[in-house]
Amino acid sequence: MTTSQTDLAALHDRQQAERELFDLLRIPSVSADPTHTEDMGRAAEFLRAKLESLGFAARVDATEHSGKAGHPVVYAERLEAPGKPTVLIYGHYDVQPEAPLSEWVTPPFEPTVRDGRIYARGSTDDKGQAYAHIRGVELLLSQGQTEGTPLPVNVKFLLEGEEEVGSPSLAAYLQAHAEELGADVIVISDGSRFAPDVPTVTYGLRGLSYVEILVQGANRDLHSGSYGGAAPNPINALAEIISKLKDDHGRVTIPGFYDGVEELTPEEREMWARLPHSDEEFAASIGVPALPGEEGYSTLERLWARPTLDVNGIWGGYQGEGSKTVIAAKAGAKVSMRLVPGQDPERVTRLIQEYVPTIAPQGVKVEVKALHGGQPVKVDLDSPFIKAADRALTRVYGKPAAFSRTGGSIPIVADFRRILGAPVLLVDFGLNEDAPHSPNESFALEDYHNGVLTSAALLQELGLQELGK
Ligand code: BES
Ligand code: MN
Ligand code: MN
Repeated sequence: MTTSQTDLAALHDRQQAERELFDLLRIPSVSADPTHTEDMGRAAEFLRAKLESLGFAARVDATEHSGKAGHPVVYAERLEAPGKPTVLIYGHYDVQPEAPLSEWVTPPFEPTVRDGRIYARGSTDDKGQAYAHIRGVELLLSQGQTEGTPLPVNVKFLLEGEEEVGSPSLAAYLQAHAEELGADVIVISDGSRFAPDVPTVTYGLRGLSYVEILVQGANRDLHSGSYGGAAPNPINALAEIISKLKDDHGRVTIPGFYDGVEELTPEEREMWARLPHSDEEFAASIGVPALPGEEGYSTLERLWARPTLDVNGIWGGYQGEGSKTVIAAKAGAKVSMRLVPGQDPERVTRLIQEYVPTIAPQGVKVEVKALHGGQPVKVDLDSPFIKAADRALTRVYGKPAAFSRTGGSIPIVADFRRILGAPVLLVDFGLNEDAPHSPNESFALEDYHNGVLTSAALLQELGLQELGK
């Protein structure tokens, strides 16, 4: 028998769930920073021990990519529901670097509650959302202690430590463990709901091509008086290159960039137009007076269904106090291109590598280095798993789910389909206003607890699913 939502909510120990998440948030598991390698191991072990205490066979697996050690994967399973679907829950325990530290109101690795929100790096992305599933499973198990019901589905957890650096080791790990990781559906909570009062099933992620443009001028930094006007200036050259990557209509100029891009169906356009979105509020929420972008598309279309190019960082020359009259020898920029279904990251990377040298001014050497990428993803809305998620969200929020895509990327998701052959179900608990990757990242306590309840309800609903359907 399926325990009612009211009973589940009554069983959920909020305080204990918060305490445990805070312990996890205190571990500075920054995957990009080699000085945190030990913390990565500590976070993985924390999760393994927790899952073991819930009766899972749980282990920490070392990983590697191109001969180098990667951050460990936590794998755990409890397969005690013969004839029931197997659900693989994926999440990541690594977090983005905390910089700039001075912008944090309270320290990034000392979780603090203010105004009903947990402030900490990783609170929403993705420790809080991933841990909600662990507590969701625990909730179902604690109910079993009184009624003798086991978990309604077979559950596997796959928690990685390299998502924020492009999951370099995970595809090989999936390949090596493909049989063990087999599942009927893969559940992921690592993104944002459409709006605070809108329970959401996400059915699309953008892909990514991330490159670094390097510009080399003279063989050393030069006096800008003695050489200015004659010597090539790599920073000016870089600015010129960047300004040519988009035209006045907000379109990316790289030849072939838009080839194959899937157009929205009229049904999808209509569905999105009905979502409660306001450009004014969206602009106000990030403190800007206008939303420049590709002409001819609405904001949601630009965010979810159109590819784009953004400079994410730029360096070169003197950055210190006051002035220094110098022409730098080198400059560089980090560029992300968000991709949509129909585009291939490797192809797009090749296209920008071919294009940039053709628009560079004379006298400088340019190089476009590929950093990482990921395939775009679109989930079939017409699936029984989507319906199960809708039922679970309706139970928790008292209203049916909205279906939206998102502009972010989770590069490994396409590999789940390719290597494990399983469909994914993206049920996000966070919000954009949680400010993932920014200073003062947070996660509303209410969203965390609703995440726990949604996870429990979702596993119950998936347990009602007939296999092979
Ligand atoms: N959780 C995000 C992905 C995300 C962001 C989903 C916003 C939905 C909305 C994930 O941790 C992330 O940050 N992904 C990176 C990928 C990159 C590091 C390869 C991203 O999207 O920039
Ligand atoms: Mn994430
Ligand atoms: Mn992230």
